[in-house]
Amino acid sequence: MAEGYIVYGLSRSNDWEQENYRFVPIDLSNLEAVSRFRFNQLGEELTVLVNNAGMIGDISPVGLQDAESIQKTHFVNTIAPQILMNTFVRDTQDQKGKKHILNISSGAGKYPIDAWSVYCSSKAALDLFAETLKEELQSRGEDSYTVHSVSPGVVDTQMQTEIREADPELFLLSDKFRKLKTNQELSSPILAADKLFQIIENPSQFPENLVSLRDF
Ligand SMILES: NC(=O)c1ccc[n+]([C@@H]2O[C@H](COP(=O)([O-])OP(=O)(O)OC[C@H]3O[C@@H](n4cnc5c(N)ncnc54)[C@H](OP(=O)(O)O)[C@@H]3O)[C@@H](O)[C@H]2O)c1
Repeated sequence: MAEGYIVYGLSRSNDWEQENYRFVPIDLSNLEAVSRFRFNQLGEELTVLVNNAGMIGDISPVGLQDAESIQKTHFVNTIAPQILMNTFVRDTQDQKGKKHILNISSGAGKYPIDAWSVYCSSKAALDLFAETLKEELQSRGEDSYTVHSVSPGVVDTQMQTEIREADPELFLLSDKFRKLKTNQELSSPILAADKLFQIIENPSQFPENLVSLRDF
């Protein structure tokens, strides 16, 4: 893990231990828990918020989706990150150091993908929130903030396992995603994390709000 950083990991479960890692158990689908969260451990030089938690939700065409799943997917993918960004800006506004917000977005937020309507629309909303935030900060002279929306590409994680396991009768691209795995075309989570860290360490090299990890 990067030296000099203290990392706070927010999720429901954790099986990782590191000297400079602190696990913060939280269910990001719970409005009360997310609203209560405060950023009270700020870095002197730099404080970074990475909105990484996400879920693919129901993989099925419109007409067959479950109402609760639609709500939960939007909550975890876009509402919780929006609440956290709002709290982050409020809690860090008087902080002297640099502040950086990185949302883990997806190519799926830029074009439609069969049976992923909820996931696609949740990521599109996240991107536009971040673009608006970036403009707001710029027009108010808040130059200590940097905002990025990062598309990681297809990464070999539990989410890809879920995608491969989706019912092929409901998900017309099922075969394509299974081939990505068998053809070893998924990128590694370590490589994605390394590239994310490059953006954190060298934000000025990434002047656009939207960054694709496939591009470097
Ligand atoms: N993998 C890809 O190919 C790919 C492509 C494009 C974008 N992305 C994006 O990359 C990000 C990471 O995805 P991933 O592939 O690593 O997915 P993943 O393997 O399914 O991991 C999801 C992460 O989100 C956390 N999470 C999910 N629901 C949560 C909840 N209710 N409360 C708290 N934490 C929750 C999980 O932790 P717990 O289960 O412990 O809570 C886990 O750490 C997501 O935003 C995803 O949309 C992934």
